[in-house]
Amino acid sequence: MKFFIDTANLSEIKAAQELGVLDGVTTNPSLMAKEGITGTNNILKHYVDICNISDGDVSAEVIATDYEGMIKEGEELAELHERIVVKLPMTKDGVRACKYFSSKGVKVNVTLVFSPGQALLAAKAGATYVSPFIGRLDDISTDGLNLIAEIREIYDNYGYETEILAASVRHTMHIVNCAKIGADVMTGPLSAILGLLKHPLTDIGLAQFIADYQKGNK
Ligand code: E4P
Repeated sequence: MKFFIDTANLSEIKAAQELGVLDGVTTNPSLMAKEGITGTNNILKHYVDICNISDGDVSAEVIATDYEGMIKEGEELAELHERIVVKLPMTKDGVRACKYFSSKGVKVNVTLVFSPGQALLAAKAGATYVSPFIGRLDDISTDGLNLIAEIREIYDNYGYETEILAASVRHTMHIVNCAKIGADVMTGPLSAILGLLKHPLTDIGLAQFIADYQKGNK
């Protein structure tokens, strides 16, 4: 499973990159605003900065909601860097724009996906990634992981190559469960990735090894 980090914070992206497990970055307008990145030029520059400190695909989201606007913005974003993936919302215009970009060989991430039917449409339109938001479904007492399982079944039935990018991952067990179901990618915060490291028996075992070594090597 690929690991993407879901942030516009350059320090967190660097930390994940240095850990050696980062395959890409996703952002959204809210994450950009959280880092205080405002104004078109600053936002475009920030995407380039993210590309320069990470190795994999970097999703950059359009703000336009109409087809023509999405095409114009998406083309500007795609020109920024070869690893930019144009992130489009799951709307009628977004699906049309997805088909436009995928036909031209530009990678697309279809975002704000909350149902298997939406994921099927994204695959039909040639999306590189589909982003089901599992945390936001859990927030309204609907099983987000079940959506990943349903999309996996549909994509496997027909051999769709669109990658299931489990998004809105909030904690470490989301990552583990997405891996069990067979999500191709997950995107989440650095804290959720670092949570995978933790086990008390690892800490106890390491302390014992070090203590035993020190006893015999005074
Ligand atoms: C996906 O690309 C989104 O940026 C993201 O995962 C949303 O997560 P949230 O529901 O925690 O805001």
